[in-house]
Order: sequence, then structure tokens, then C-alpha cells
Amino acid sequence: MHKHKVQIAASILSADFGELNKDIKSVEDKVDLLHVDVMDGHFVPNLTFGAPVVKCIKTKLPMICHLMVENPEDLIDDFAAAGAGGISFHQEVAPHMNRLVERIKSLRMKAGVAINPATPVWTLEDIVDELDFVLVMSVNPGFGGQEFIPEALEKVALLREMSPDLSIEVDGGVNEKTAAKIIEAGANILVSGSYIFSSKNRADAIKNLRG
Ligand code: DX5
Ligand code: ZN
Repeated sequence: MHKHKVQIAASILSADFGELNKDIKSVEDKVDLLHVDVMDGHFVPNLTFGAPVVKCIKTKLPMICHLMVENPEDLIDDFAAAGAGGISFHQEVAPHMNRLVERIKSLRMKAGVAINPATPVWTLEDIVDELDFVLVMSVNPGFGGQEFIPEALEKVALLREMSPDLSIEVDGGVNEKTAAKIIEAGANILVSGSYIFSSKNRADAIKNLRG
């Protein structure tokens, strides 16, 4: 078993954007991280928000920005200035992962790489030791509320084997039915959006995820 304790990241993609700070307040003392989904309408067929919106978020929680964008190199500095505590970019758009990781770290943020469901774990073999975390997508990125792809569990287990101390985050379709299996496979950060924000009792929902 790995040494990390399980952390929950609330994905604000499923929050009410008109009441963002209010929705964040409702989970602030219950989760460990805020997961901020940045979509550019190119890498994924959807648009969300950029650094100016992140700058308006009032929270004590670390804001970890998941960049689902074609050109992450253009956005890293802006998100750092907006107060991000960490950034993940996608392996699929980054021929120079090392350069991006160094840039993120030099701005005192946590650096992670995200992989789509169809991207194999071995693509991270040579960079994994430099990363603060890996984000394993368990749905095709772009939308909240999709169904968990079970093959992600095998990828988590492979990554855990590759790097016993790595922080492994799973994103997409995380709910009370899938959380235990994800933790069992070796992940230590669970991202959850629609399950948390659509629950009548958000505190209970978050407890269910921790198992
Ligand atoms: C999907 C996003 C996820 C999304 C997860 O592209 O990266 O972070 O918010 O939403 P749920 O938890 O509803 O699957
Ligand atoms: Zn995400």
C-alpha cells in the first residue's frame, strides 16, 4: 500500500458558475483540493473559463488547474499569476513535457501530467520521477457527468507499480460506486464534480468518496 492518504478534489465544472464562490464555500471545509477544469474548445469540444475567472475565486483550498487545452505553454504564467497552486497539462499535446514541468515548478506550483483514456501509462515512464502527480482520465475529457471507464483501474495499478510514491489522481465518473475500486487500485486523489455538486447533502457525498 502506498503512503499517501486519500484526498478529495471538488471539480467546480459542476458548480453553478453564477454562484461560484458560494458553491465553493459549501465544500470548502470538507474537501482537500479544488479541481479547476480549463477547456479551450479545441483539445476538447467545450469551453469553460480562463485565468481571469480563477483570479476571482475566493478560497483557502489549493486550486489545481486541469488544462484541457492545445497550447498549455501559453497559459502557465497566467494561471500562476491568478493564484493556481498546481497545473496539469495533457501528454497528448506536449512534445516537450519536461520543459513544461520545469516551468510550472519554477513558478512554485505542483506539476502534473494528465492522460486520456486511450493514452498508455508507459508514455510517462521517463518523466514520472519529475512529477508531483499524474492525472488518469477515467472519461474522455470535455464534460462532467459521464460514466466511469473501468479500464482506468488497470492504468492506475500500472502507474502505482511504476512509481510507489507518486500522487495518482483519477478524474471522471467518480462517485460512491466507483471510489472504493479506484482507491484499491492505488490512486490517492479522487476528483469529483457532478456527484458532489448534485448531491442534496454534499458533506455526506464527500464522506462516501473517502470510503
Ligand atoms: C472532465 C473533467 C472532469 C469533470 C469530472 O473533462 O476533467 O474534471 O469535472 O466530472 P464528473 O465528476 O461529473 O465525472
Ligand atoms: Zn478535470
